[in-house]
Amino acid sequence: MYKIAVLPGDGIGPEVVREALKVLRAVAERIGFDYETVEYDFGAERYLRTGETLPDSAIEEFKEMDAILVGAFGDPRVKPGILEHGIILKLRFSLDLYINLRPIKLYPGVPTPLKDKGPEDIDFVVVRENTEGLYAGIGGFLRKGTPDEVAIQVMVNTRKGVERCVRYAFELARKRNKKKRVTLCDKANVLIHAHDLWRRVFDEVGREFPDVEKDYAFVDATTMWMVKNPEWFDVIVTCNMFGDIITDLGAIIQGGMGIAASGNIHPGRVSMFEPIHGSAPKYAGKGMANPLAAICSMGMMLEHIGEEKGAKLVDRAVSELLASGKIKDLSAGKMGYTTSEVGDLVVEYVRRVEV
Ligand code: IPM
Ligand code: MN
Repeated sequence: MYKIAVLPGDGIGPEVVREALKVLRAVAERIGFDYETVEYDFGAERYLRTGETLPDSAIEEFKEMDAILVGAFGDPRVKPGILEHGIILKLRFSLDLYINLRPIKLYPGVPTPLKDKGPEDIDFVVVRENTEGLYAGIGGFLRKGTPDEVAIQVMVNTRKGVERCVRYAFELARKRNKKKRVTLCDKANVLIHAHDLWRRVFDEVGREFPDVEKDYAFVDATTMWMVKNPEWFDVIVTCNMFGDIITDLGAIIQGGMGIAASGNIHPGRVSMFEPIHGSAPKYAGKGMANPLAAICSMGMMLEHIGEEKGAKLVDRAVSELLASGKIKDLSAGKMGYTTSEVGDLVVEYVRRVEV
């Protein structure tokens, strides 16, 4: 019996999570596993009402669970940064979710803005370090508010943190068994301390994986290659900040925020799954949001908890639905269906596709 914490959050979050749970129910029925969900109302409303973002007691409860499914956080009434730090980053840091896994996969039938590129060209995974780097929060101000102000934001790179991330990437390349190539995306030519460590650790760990090709790309060049030759990539491993930036680019080449999924993972422990898109307040409550990103994130969750067959079923269902051409456009309000109808369609495919 799996125990899953559900945090629908703000804006379109609750609508897309509802569809992900609908699909989860269908998958569980077909495959035959049991689960229970516990819903939490953390988000903007609760913060505005009580001043609370995510209490430590909730983190302790999550530690006893198998996974956390998240919708989206953000509300124009809340100052930027509060919910990001108070909820998302708190979850990542306090549960030590050191991998942010972001598959960049163009499903057949989905248009990409890249000219002359198709599903066979766009199929790679970004392994983003998720607990340190520029996100660690170390820094401060000096003479704040004066003309002589200094602002410092420290980029933290620990050997342990880099190593576990790089190792995950090599293991993933092996498991995917595709091009078996790991590209280290860094800026070692400028960040001569931080990314020197990354290079050394990458080479050291890489030696344990002689069957996996080691490849290097500076982050600026990576953005160029992702557009020009995405077919080169198999697994990209990178630091927190660069991973944040290149995965928005990745989301767009795979068809947009309507489909981009992610997992915040600590292998073997409770992990958190969320669509990359935000709360999109202007579409909230209108049935216009695309639930596929949340559904695919739920699929990644199944893989993490060990229901690999269920994960494949979700992937196949989404893939065949998209290939059918029924959904006109992945953007909110242009799908030709409501949020809930798209969820129903996925359920239909879950019931009948072969795995
Ligand atoms: C993401 C988001 C977050 C990040 C924000 C909301 C803190 O942009 O998941 O990519 O920067 O990691
Ligand atoms: Mn981001």
